[in-house]
Amino acid sequence: MNEPLSEWSERLVFGIDPIDAQHKQLFDLAATFEGSGDEIRMMKTLASLSNYVVEHLREEEALLELCGYPKLEAHRELHRRFRTMIVALLEDARQMTLDEIAERVHYLINGWFYDHIMGADLDYVPLVRAHLAAAGEPPAE
Ligand SMILES: [Fe+2]
Repeated sequence: MNEPLSEWSERLVFGIDPIDAQHKQLFDLAATFEGSGDEIRMMKTLASLSNYVVEHLREEEALLELCGYPKLEAHRELHRRFRTMIVALLEDARQMTLDEIAERVHYLINGWFYDHIMGADLDYVPLVRAHLAAAGEPPAE
């Protein structure tokens, strides 16, 4: 787990709504995880984070399918890996301290997911923006 951690920033804005909003929401959720606090509340937030990840990945895949993104299958595979890591965290969380859970959440969102957005996600931006523009939906700025 030595991936560098990064905060959400304007660099992550693609001009594609609602993808941008969902990406930001995941960073906002991750930012609420701290080592201190209420265990029950943290488990609930973890469940919300997990549900939100699943929902976001599903929506992103649907959009990529709609736009005919040629690397969709490879992208789906990356999402599958991410879901697997989230599910593993949900399972492990019961035996982990709040500090450990917070650390793993930050690794997943501020490390892995950040890199995913700046790498694999960035690749679909021109195609999706062109598709939305052609469909008459001005991309969000
Ligand atoms: Fe993605």
